[in-house]
Amino acid sequence: MNIYVKKDYNELSRAAAEEIKQVVGKKPDCLLGLATGNTPIGIYRELVSMYRRKEIDFSRVRAMNLDEYFGISLNHPGTCNTYLEDHFYRYINIRRDNIFRLNSEAKSGEDEGSRYEEIIGKIGGIDLLILGIGLNGHLGFNEPGTSFESPTHTVNLTDITKQCNYQLFGTVDKMPEYGITMGLKTIMKAGKCILMASGEKKSKIIFKALKEPVTTEIPASILQLHHNVSTYLDCESSKLI
Ligand code: GLP
Repeated sequence: MNIYVKKDYNELSRAAAEEIKQVVGKKPDCLLGLATGNTPIGIYRELVSMYRRKEIDFSRVRAMNLDEYFGISLNHPGTCNTYLEDHFYRYINIRRDNIFRLNSEAKSGEDEGSRYEEIIGKIGGIDLLILGIGLNGHLGFNEPGTSFESPTHTVNLTDITKQCNYQLFGTVDKMPEYGITMGLKTIMKAGKCILMASGEKKSKIIFKALKEPVTTEIPASILQLHHNVSTYLDCESSKLI
């Protein structure tokens, strides 16, 4: 695993976006898997700036979200779909039919998971997956205890995840009960992963995930076993490693 420590959030975002630009440059029709949350906002901002400066072209890029809430309308302001539209897709020249979404309104989580895995398989796999990390070490919505063999699946969101993500829903009690996420097996099959963390509040979990033994209790620790991971940290999130 390559670990890059940057001075601050802006530098971290710029450096990670630069690596994404290289991947897209080398493989213009690559498949990107995209995280949401606060951490990647800067990356999407940088990528949009690069696009405006004509440094990157998304016309053949395929993109899909890493995870989604489940059991709510896809157009709800809190969905990962809405987030990716608002922070990224609407500003770049990606083709609408090259955007693949987890359907938060699907009747069966199992069928929806299989549908998503099929899309990934048909395209030929995820080339680059952008990941944040939850305070409990979750990746996507893979909460502690998730099997390393998990494909895309639905999950019961934990209280800590609800507390960290409720802003777009108003209050914690308005948070959806369920999520749907690429599984840890899906994540491990990606050609490359970019993991990001920013701020002191992530320093403990970054230490556990990167420096302590791999365990299902810290889902992000599985990345120690991945062959191609770039981790971008700022000084604060890296202070214990
Ligand atoms: C959510 C998302 C994850 C994200 C995590 C961390 O739970 N489902 O994909 O990595 O939050 O979010 P943040 O970057 O806001 O700390």
